[in-house]
Amino acid sequence: MQTVQDAAALRAVIRGWRGQGLTVGFVPTMGNLHAGHHSLIKLARARADRVVASVFVNPTQFGPNEDFERYPRTLVQDQVGLAEQECDLLFAPEVATLYPFGAEQSVSIHVPLLTETLEGARRPGHFDGVATVVCKLFNLVQPDLAVFGQKDFQQLKVIERMVRDLSLPVKIMGAPTLRADDGLALSSRNQYLTPEQRALAPQIYATLQQMRELIAKGHAWPVVEQAAASKLARAGFEPDYAAIRRVEDLGEPGEGETEGLVALIAARLGTTRLIDNLPFE
Ligand code: PAF
Repeated sequence: MQTVQDAAALRAVIRGWRGQGLTVGFVPTMGNLHAGHHSLIKLARARADRVVASVFVNPTQFGPNEDFERYPRTLVQDQVGLAEQECDLLFAPEVATLYPFGAEQSVSIHVPLLTETLEGARRPGHFDGVATVVCKLFNLVQPDLAVFGQKDFQQLKVIERMVRDLSLPVKIMGAPTLRADDGLALSSRNQYLTPEQRALAPQIYATLQQMRELIAKGHAWPVVEQAAASKLARAGFEPDYAAIRRVEDLGEPGEGETEGLVALIAARLGTTRLIDNLPFE
C-alpha cells in the first residue's frame, strides 16, 4: 500500500487508475483504526476496483472543549492494518493541504435541520466540520463510492443529504456497526473505559434493543425515551439522550408511527462519551 501526503500525488495515482477504467472506493477516517474501520475497507474492496483510505484528524469538527491536540495519532499502526485489509492507497494530508487558508478561514458547509438535533445540538458546529472536510476529500479523491459506518448514524445521514443536495457524483454506502460479543459497538473510545465501565457499557445496546421491543409493543415513543434514559442513569451512566427518531430525517415520529424508526443513545461513563443506535428493520 502506498501512502501519499499531498494532493498532486494523490491525483496522479487516481488518474492512473481512471486511465485503466478502474472504479475507486473511498473510506475517510481520523485514524486510530480498529476492526470497525477495517470492515469499511472490506466493504469498499468488495464494491470497487481500488480502495483509498484517508487518515486526517480534522480540526474543524472539534469543539473548543474537545481536545483536538490529544486525539490519538497512530499512523504507523494504521498503515499496517490498512495494508492487511488490502487498501491500495492511504491519503494522510497535512492540515494546510485541506485548509489552505487556515481552518478558521475555511469555506464551511452547513446541512440544515439534520445537524441541529441530537449530536448536533450537543456539539455545535461539529457536523459543519464533518460535512466540509468530507466534501473537500471527495473533491480530491473523486471516488465512485464512499463507505461510512452506521455507528455514526447522524453523520451518515448528514453526508447523504449533503451529497444529494450538492449533486456530488458519489454513491454513499452505510456499513453495519461491528460489535463485541457482549453487544458493545466497536469504537476508538472504548479504550478509555476502566474495567468496571467496560462491564457496564454493553447496557447501551441492551437498552436500544428494549426500546425497539417497547415500540413494537405499541408504547408511545416519549415514554420509551424516558424509560431508557432513567434505566441508563440508574445503571451509572450520564445519558445525553435516548431518542426514537425517523430514519429519514431524524425528526420526531408522529403518533402511532412505528415504521422507519431508529433508536439512538449518547451517554457518558465517567469522562468517556459513547454513542450507539439501532435502526428498526
Ligand atoms: O467518522 C469520522 O471518522 C470523521 O467524522 C470523518 C468522516 C472521517 C470526517 O473527519
